Amino acid sequence: MTEEIVKSALSKVMYPGFTKDIVTFGFVNSIAIDGTNVSFTVEITSSAPEVAQQIKDEATEALKAAGASSVNCNVKAPQMPKESSSQGRNIAPQVKNFLMVSSGKGGVGKSTTSLNIAIAFAAQGLKVGLLDADIYGPNIPRMMGVSDIKPEVNGNKVLPIKAYGIEMMSMGSLMEEGQALIWRGAMIMKAIEQFLRDIVWSELDILVIDMPPGTGDAQLSLAQAVPVTAGLTVTTPQSVSLDDSRRSLSMFKKLNIPIAGIVENMSGFIAPDTGVEYDIFGKGTSQPMADEFSTQIIAEIPIEPSVRTGGDEGKPVTFANPTSESAKRFTEAAASIWATIEAINAEGGVDNAGVQPTTPPGVSACSTPAASSAPASKSEGESCGTGCGCH
Ligand SMILES: Nc1ncnc2c1ncn2[C@@H]1O[C@H](COP(=O)(O)OP(=O)(O)OP(=O)(O)O)[C@@H](O)[C@H]1O
Ligand SMILES: [Mg+2]
Repeated sequence: MTEEIVKSALSKVMYPGFTKDIVTFGFVNSIAIDGTNVSFTVEITSSAPEVAQQIKDEATEALKAAGASSVNCNVKAPQMPKESSSQGRNIAPQVKNFLMVSSGKGGVGKSTTSLNIAIAFAAQGLKVGLLDADIYGPNIPRMMGVSDIKPEVNGNKVLPIKAYGIEMMSMGSLMEEGQALIWRGAMIMKAIEQFLRDIVWSELDILVIDMPPGTGDAQLSLAQAVPVTAGLTVTTPQSVSLDDSRRSLSMFKKLNIPIAGIVENMSGFIAPDTGVEYDIFGKGTSQPMADEFSTQIIAEIPIEPSVRTGGDEGKPVTFANPTSESAKRFTEAAASIWATIEAINAEGGVDNAGVQPTTPPGVSACSTPAASSAPASKSEGESCGTGCGCH
């Protein structure tokens, strides 16, 4: 065998889908010949496994026909393109993007928003999961009408529950109804990690995470466990809610989470009989806060009875009543969030390396001697600089 014979045999192998062969393309290199044993590398531009296999099969056949007794064809293909460019610690690597839904205050509609946005994402063709990370007050199972369904357990892994085109897991699906939970911070951290690691989530485009109210251990644990692609704050228009929402937005900043926007919920009331919109709690009052954090109000969701009944009856408004004003606005909000996530990924994604604990897991950085001996100039409420996120 000579190099000429090898090249001439390989020039009969067309690159799949083209009329040009792999030698003419310049893909063949590192030819080594030992008697009638031939080895070489083909460097291709496609990451599709079928392309690599076809080249391997045809090259082997062509060389055997030219007199080779053994053929070692090493096809080098590029890695599959990653649809998320985020980096850092990720204990659920099959999930491409994570959306943290937070609010400073309870009862403003986080769960309602998380669920309806998740359903709107699925309607856009995305593969979606919804994690109810409200460990003390899980409401999502009822809102999805699956509170009687217990998840399937496979070894020490749990399968998510499927409804309305999305995958879901909640503490409410894992425990008996009404069972009280009194957990400490370290246990919350463990629960969040288990929700991400031990639930058999599919290859998801996005996991929407409905957080408990406030800016505590659950938020920090999540940000340390996975690179959160974007944060969404839900608020109501009253000033008292806005004050708390500022804390939620500051938390995103401290945790290096890009802000996807603000949902102003219970923004006006649409009377079901007349369709007339009334201003109850105020409307558009979140705008100055959005400006302050260089973000936007991506939806004003009115108070609509069908939103509440949808939640109580397990028939989310975006699915059950897609022509309602709320459903339309949730759908627009989802499109806006997805556009933001695509832009974040195009710019290199996010990295949670900067919020990893500087102390052993479960120990608050603020309670360590190093933190308490921090310079006295630190004013009340200011971060201790450890990335603990608890300020
Ligand atoms: N736009 C709306 N119109 C009518 N009812 C609404 C609207 N948004 C939320 N609700 C209702 O308000 C209640 C509280 O909403 P939800 O449970 O989503 O709030 P939350 O912020 O998740 O509360 P928590 O802090 O307790 O988890 C629910 O009964 C829900 O159906
Ligand atoms: Mg909730």
